[in-house]
Formats: sequence, structure tokens, C-alpha cells
Amino acid sequence: MKVLRSLDFWSSFLILLFTVMFAAWVYVNWFSLSFFVGDLFFVHWVGLAATFFVGVMVPVYYVLKRKSPKKFKLLLRIHVFGNLLSFLLISVHFAQNTGRLSGFPSKLGDGLVLFLVLSIIVATGMLVRFGAKMKFVRYIKFVHSYAVVLFYFVVAFHVLSFFI
Ligand code: HEM
Ligand code: HEM
Repeated sequence: MKVLRSLDFWSSFLILLFTVMFAAWVYVNWFSLSFFVGDLFFVHWVGLAATFFVGVMVPVYYVLKRKSPKKFKLLLRIHVFGNLLSFLLISVHFAQNTGRLSGFPSKLGDGLVLFLVLSIIVATGMLVRFGAKMKFVRYIKFVHSYAVVLFYFVVAFHVLSFFI
């Protein structure tokens, strides 16, 4: 299979593997990352920065891709690796919070839904990018692109819920 010879595929795979392992470690050792920077937990800043990157870079990618089709390969690489690294950081935020709140499952809500939506976006992104000649890639790409609307909606809810 051609995809197994792709450096981008193996790099993405390794980032995801590291994400799962590191998030599992953070979940168990959540107290190690329970320190404040300013008014917020360090991991909240990490989640904020990564979510900001994803939220801003999606429309930037959308516009640049159409404006400079010759740079598509570079833009797609930035899209894939920028978002995978953001997913890694968001997973750290997610794992620390779910570890910290593991005795209080009723306190988990929109953050959990948000992580699920993002995981679907990442999984479908992997399939669209590396799924070779999959029959249903058109539908998977549709899910990948339009789940973003849900992502923005739940992010807004997650952030606003701390102020309400
Ligand atoms: C995709 C991005 C994000 C995911 C998956 C996520 C996930 C979570 C989860 C699972 C929790 C535990 C409580 C709950 O389920 O609601 C949580 C709590 C929290 N998140 Fe996020 N989050 C994200 C982005 C953000 C952003 C952008 C901020 C902005 C500051 C943020 C700030 C917080 C804060 C302050 C808490 C603690 C709430 C508390 O202790 O009551 N998160 N997050
Ligand atoms: C995690 C946050 C991500 C978001 C919010 C996101 C969002 C999007 C959106 C909205 C599009 C449609 C762009 C357009 O129509 O011009 C798209 C396309 C695409 N995404 Fe993602 N994506 C994310 C992560 C990823 C990841 C991790 C991968 C691969 C591992 C990926 C691979 C792709 C591919 C292959 C396309 C189609 C290429 C194209 O025609 O532009 N995405 N993404």
C-alpha cells in the first residue's frame, strides 16, 4: 500500500500514538499538572491556545487554499500537523480535567461532548488524508468538514458557561 510508504502518514500516526499515551499519563497523574498560571490552571491556558489555533486556522486554510491553489500541498501539511499538535494539547487539557473530576462524573458535560466532536473530526481527517482509495471518502469528507460547525458551537458554549 502506497500510504504505508508515506512519511506524513507515519508522522501523523506517531503524533496520535504519543497523544493517547501522554493523555493516559496525564489522566492518572492529573495532580502533576494542577498548577495555576495567573487566574487559570496551566492546562486551561493550553486548551485555550490550542482551541484558538484550530478555530482561527480553519477559515484561514479555507480561504488560502482557494486563493493560492499552487500552495495546496504546503497548506494541507500545515492543516494536518497544526491540527494534530493542537489535538495533542487539547487532549492534555481534556485528560487533566477528566482525571481531576473523575470522582464527579456529573460535572462533565459540554467539554466531554467537545472532545468527542473533535475526535470525530481528527479520525475522519485521517481517513480523508490517508484512507487511500476508500469508496465512501466523499461522505467522510462531508462529516469532517461540517462537524466543524458543531465544534464552533460547543466551544462557544464551553467557554461561555464559565461566565454565566
Ligand atoms: C476542544 C477543546 C476543549 C475540550 C475538548 C475541553 C474539555 C474539557 C473538559 C472535558 C472539561 C471538564 C468539564 C466539562 O466536561 O465541561 C473541561 C473543563 C474546563 N475547560 Fe475545557 N475544553 C476545551 C477547550 C477549552 C477552552 C478554549 C477553554 C478556555 C479557557 C477551556 C476552559 C476550561 C475550564 C476553565 C474548565 C474547568 C471547569 C470547571 O472546573 O468547572 N476549555 N474542558
Ligand atoms: C482538528 C481540527 C480540524 C478541523 C477543525 C478541520 C477542518 C477541516 C475543514 C473545514 C475542511 C474543509 C476545507 C475546505 O473545504 O476548504 C478540511 C479539509 C480537510 N482536512 Fe481537516 N480539520 C481538522 C483536522 C484535520 C486532520 C488532523 C487531518 C488529517 C490527519 C485533516 C485532513 C483534512 C483533509 C485531507 C481535508 C481535505 C483537503 C481539502 O480538500 O482541503 N484535517 N478540514
